[in-house]
Amino acid sequence: MKVIRQTFVALALASPLAGFAATATLTLHADQPGATINRNIYGQFTEHLGHCIYGGIWVEPDSPIPNTRGIRNDVVAALRALRVPVVRWPGGCFAEEYHWRDGIGSRDKRPAMINTNWGGVVENNHFGTHEFMDFCEQVGCEPYICGNLGSGTVQELSNWIEYMTSDANSPLANERRANGRDKPWKVKYFAFGNESWGCGGNMRPEYYVDQYRKFSAFAKDYPGNTLYRVACGPNDANYRWTQVLMNDIHAMYSDTAPGMDGLALHSYTLPVGHWENVGKGSATAFGEDQYFNCLNGAATMDELVTKHVAIMDRADPKKTVSLVVDEWGVWTDSEPGTNPGFLYQQNSLRDAMVAALTLNVFQKHADRVSMANIAQMVNVLQAMILTDGPKMLLTPTYHVFEMYKVHQDATLLAIDLSAPGYGYAGKSLPAVSASASRDAAGKVHVSLVNVDPKEPITLNCRLAGLAAHSVSGRVLTAPAVNSVNTFDAPHTVEPVAFSGAKLSGNALTVDLPAKSIVVLELE
Ligand code: AHR
Repeated sequence: MKVIRQTFVALALASPLAGFAATATLTLHADQPGATINRNIYGQFTEHLGHCIYGGIWVEPDSPIPNTRGIRNDVVAALRALRVPVVRWPGGCFAEEYHWRDGIGSRDKRPAMINTNWGGVVENNHFGTHEFMDFCEQVGCEPYICGNLGSGTVQELSNWIEYMTSDANSPLANERRANGRDKPWKVKYFAFGNESWGCGGNMRPEYYVDQYRKFSAFAKDYPGNTLYRVACGPNDANYRWTQVLMNDIHAMYSDTAPGMDGLALHSYTLPVGHWENVGKGSATAFGEDQYFNCLNGAATMDELVTKHVAIMDRADPKKTVSLVVDEWGVWTDSEPGTNPGFLYQQNSLRDAMVAALTLNVFQKHADRVSMANIAQMVNVLQAMILTDGPKMLLTPTYHVFEMYKVHQDATLLAIDLSAPGYGYAGKSLPAVSASASRDAAGKVHVSLVNVDPKEPITLNCRLAGLAAHSVSGRVLTAPAVNSVNTFDAPHTVEPVAFSGAKLSGNALTVDLPAKSIVVLELE
């Protein structure tokens, strides 16, 4: 496939002369199509953690908060507008202590458990398989189930798949019917364990491989349902993990012993840059150092994906195994005064910039990255949505996903980008990031990010192989990089119509404001 070529002009060019915006150049090769951008790159993650499920999605059917069978109507409507393609559930670390039988049948008889990972709170299991599937149907997305390989049994996992996907006249399928669901659900995406190198069992990759092979062997494809099997992949730069799995799972593939379809990478962006630090950094009170670190996290994601993909390419040149980045996002300190085990954090323009940069990275690797799931959907980490009782707000990150949805299932287009640097404390990043695609209707969309917090940049574009007659777009920016939406002021960071793009023949000029995200449509 065609590559995205990016040139990083020397940092010295970053500071424009007074009165003149710095310039970047971009050639859009509309005649050089690449891979299809799998819509699942815009996937999300929901875990039984803090108020992601309870309060954020599930409020019980008798709640005064408007709901459909216990699921919040406002949240569902907001998610439908995003065209969320796929949602991962029930964790996360929680998945590795989740026993699905506790979450079926009459809700008032379901056993409770302690959520040992997240705040030690008592989980009443009121949101289980049927409720999650109902949620997916209301949102219009596909489920992505994470199976318990750490503390569960092979039989338990095997039975869950039969319960969900078999149409037989069998005890498990009939139990599902008795619990209110006649037809089996389609469950394509299924993961075998979560962070098996950590909270999922502290395994070595060699041990995980054997566990995977055993659990996967008993995870059956029932008629009409074929599992897309996702193995627990590496944490950040654990390249050995990827290598071992490619050697010992992928290489064993045959029609009778399925290998893996996806390998899951987890990587979070920390404002302070290291897990070892005592604090991760505030979501809202940060200086330019932590702003820079966060944006640099997107560059780190590019490096991680590139290096893991290089290992995969050697073992699997036909690209039959995809990289599934099923946890990513900004992880800050929890908001002061909230339960630190609930991972509730505010979401600023900085988060939006990280989301936009990272989505551009995933699109660049669309020939190998088939899915990504931002952590997490509601009220946890880099959320789309925050709720407070009956109130709900959309975060800056939500708006990026909404603006970028035009790329879902579109064809990646090659670009050449040459951008000035944005520097801080002797380090630098390209100040502009870009990604372009053509959708099924022939419209071309270009997503652009100017990460420089102070300087606007003029982008001079040449459109190759594209005779566009109109350009329109929207821009997301805010008074400050730490601007947020609050329940009192929910519209501070919102996209507005963009008038900074001018088309003249095959020349397009875009005046990118400082700290902005722009998505253009060319017809
Ligand atoms: O997303 C929060 C946690 O981060 C998940 O439960 C775990 O998989 C990861 O460490």
